[in-house]
Amino acid sequence: IQTERIRDCDQTRRMLITFEQWEQEARRLLDPRSFSYAASGAGDESTIRANLESFQRWRIVPRILRDVADRDLSVKLFGQTFPFPVGFAPIGRQAMFHEQGEVASAKAAAILGIPFIQSMVSSYSLEKVADAQPSRWFHLFFGHDRDVLKSMVLRAERAGFSAIVPTLDRPEEGWRAQNLSLCVSPFMFRYGIGNFISDPIVRQKYGSTLTPQTMQYLTSNPHIRVEDFRFLRSITKLPIIVKGVLHPEDANMMINYGADGLIVSNHGGRHLDGAIAALEALPSIVDVAEDRVPVMFDSGVRCGADILKALALGAKMVFIGRPYLYGLTIAGETGVRHVIENMVADFDLNLGMAGLKHISDLQPSILSRNS
Ligand code: FNR
Repeated sequence: IQTERIRDCDQTRRMLITFEQWEQEARRLLDPRSFSYAASGAGDESTIRANLESFQRWRIVPRILRDVADRDLSVKLFGQTFPFPVGFAPIGRQAMFHEQGEVASAKAAAILGIPFIQSMVSSYSLEKVADAQPSRWFHLFFGHDRDVLKSMVLRAERAGFSAIVPTLDRPEEGWRAQNLSLCVSPFMFRYGIGNFISDPIVRQKYGSTLTPQTMQYLTSNPHIRVEDFRFLRSITKLPIIVKGVLHPEDANMMINYGADGLIVSNHGGRHLDGAIAALEALPSIVDVAEDRVPVMFDSGVRCGADILKALALGAKMVFIGRPYLYGLTIAGETGVRHVIENMVADFDLNLGMAGLKHISDLQPSILSRNS
């Protein structure tokens, strides 16, 4: 890819290669409310900053003279082999950023051959996105209505989704001050109803005109408890990958209750201001999981070295969030591919520069922690 980029430089005068460039371009293209919905975080955004800073605390200690010409980034997870250990984090309401929304992102994921987690609050229905991507996992928020939850899970099974990803770190919407001051909530609501207006149980119980209040009722529930997870476990045999774990005791609890995988994440700092950086939480969760289930990671991954550090600290797969959303904004499916390809090319080179050939060679011992 690096060779291709150098060749392309003869043809174009400027390319967008870094996260800062993608973000800046997306800010230029989007209206302020949409950009704020993507970029902002809870409270004074200290958790967004903590996520980014946490990657700088770890430095890579490279080895030399190790013939790193043939590198292998592939990873096997849930019975499938992926060409590299990178996937798409669930991001809702993607038609706000590009008219093709999740369909474009899922097509990019299909071409890259990596997992796409479709948000429950996607703009397009899961059936529509299913046609675009063979390796797809379906994300859930727990709302107040178990009939709706069950209906969505059964639809996902019928449409060939291969895992269910409940996000458990968000009993309610976070206090996103920037979004509140721009009145983002009433604006964003209509972009997130794709799975709901097409659901027979939703139509039967709530009618075909959904309000922001109904959507809130169906996608948030501050009463959520372990029993809700047990209910989910009882209605599906698909692997359940729990997203939003930061405490080792919760990780242990979820494994004991039948989770098949964990995603260490603080939701990109969007809900709990002041939460621990996800990367800081990763090692203790990897320890407690003891290889019983794969531990995966998101929150703050911006470049190849970040991917490398999260894998070295024990993540089996790293999910990309805002970077691909900005790629989608800039150029739809092509933009999403461009972002992921650049991040993976950067990661691949970093692996070689560190003196390693396989992602299984990535161990905590290749990192040094700054005080
Ligand atoms: C998200 N994220 C998210 N997570 C989730 O479980 N369900 C969802 O519907 C959404 N929606 C969503 C929308 C937008 C605009 C963003 C930016 C993020 C969180 C996402 O899956 C992931 O955890 C974060 O994006 C990771 O942080 P970074 O790397 O994007 O900063």
